[in-house]
Amino acid sequence: MYEKYVNLSFKPSRNQLITTLHLEASNIKHAAGGVAAESSIGTWQEVTTEKSYMKKLAATVFSMKKQDKGTEIKIAYPPELFEEGNMPNILSSIAGNIFGLQELKALRLLDIDFPKSIIKSFKGPELGIKDIRRLLKIKKRPLVGTIIKPKLGLNSKDHAKVAYEAWIGGLDLVKCDENLASQKFNKFETNIKETLKMLEKAEKETGERKIYAPNVTAETKEMIRRAKLVKEKGGNCIMVDIITAGWAALQTLREENQDLKLILHAHRAGHAAFTRGKYGMSMLPIAKIARLIGVSQIHTGTANIGKMESGEEETQAVNSFLMSKWFSIKPVFPIASGGLHAGYVPKLVSLLGNDLIIQAGGGVHALGTRIGATSMRQAVDAIEKEIPLQEYSKTHKELKVALDKFGYVR
Ligand code: 3PG
Repeated sequence: MYEKYVNLSFKPSRNQLITTLHLEASNIKHAAGGVAAESSIGTWQEVTTEKSYMKKLAATVFSMKKQDKGTEIKIAYPPELFEEGNMPNILSSIAGNIFGLQELKALRLLDIDFPKSIIKSFKGPELGIKDIRRLLKIKKRPLVGTIIKPKLGLNSKDHAKVAYEAWIGGLDLVKCDENLASQKFNKFETNIKETLKMLEKAEKETGERKIYAPNVTAETKEMIRRAKLVKEKGGNCIMVDIITAGWAALQTLREENQDLKLILHAHRAGHAAFTRGKYGMSMLPIAKIARLIGVSQIHTGTANIGKMESGEEETQAVNSFLMSKWFSIKPVFPIASGGLHAGYVPKLVSLLGNDLIIQAGGGVHALGTRIGATSMRQAVDAIEKEIPLQEYSKTHKELKVALDKFGYVR
């Protein structure tokens, strides 16, 4: 029954949605057909309710390539199978029930090629790389930022003071951590009141534009209320935990952002529940979905550097996609974050390029926020001036403090 969904001489047309998956099973053809059937119009039995007019909606496995371990398969879906502009609906088909099929030993969604008709049904980012560079008046260098640490527990005034020190030290962006929302010790309202006051002060004192990304993640209506409040209070950016908030919530937030015109900073906390296991999806499809819906910047990985697991080639592929031309969908800033410090900056830039936001939490605040912030900024300045980091640190004491503590990674 499932095998009829496999046709290796089938040539998909350009208007079909294509998925690439890694599959392990004892009967590959049956399992691959099962994935295509269960993600389109089929089930485990021929059913009496099937009509001839709906056959054209069936998905087709058109490629099966054996690999060292398992098989890479490709499935073509007719676009009529999906409701345009409805990401949860699309994912309930192509990344839904299929992961639970008993006969599979592994199933990972590696990539999704969306056809033009579906791409055009989403807005993409309101603000992309060019808009953010224009706002900050930074033409070429990577942006540098920090995450307020300790991640939880600081009261609003102390939180704001840390942000101020970071901006004065030379950082472009300060963000809340992924698990800060509006807890009793730092309510959202007082957080943004105090921190945006410090942002204004830091901008006046440095003559530079700065970004503050407060975490608005909450139930959708509350999240929208918080985003509107940020706009009302003069903020320029919001952060959202896209995986835990969910794609539908992100779509609603993006709709609202049509008017708010805030930078949408996407944190991927929770992604590894999908991306690290035998079942789930890689970071590339997550990045594609997030860009299509409309984030402006997204955490993608640190290319084998730092504290979080993320392969070099995978991070490069994801980042290249985010910056590539994609119909009318604006390019998006990749963010490298997690266990970073000034000594990693040259290696990160050589691997991932200039269109990058480099963030360090522990790598900044362990040195004293202002010193740590300055060391990060000096590291990108050294790259811009094409001066080796160790050489630059001879005349830039904060960078020296960082290199002495953390070392320098070539
Ligand atoms: C993040 O949001 O990416 C992490 O909180 C990074 O923190 P770290 O720089 O201290 O690892």
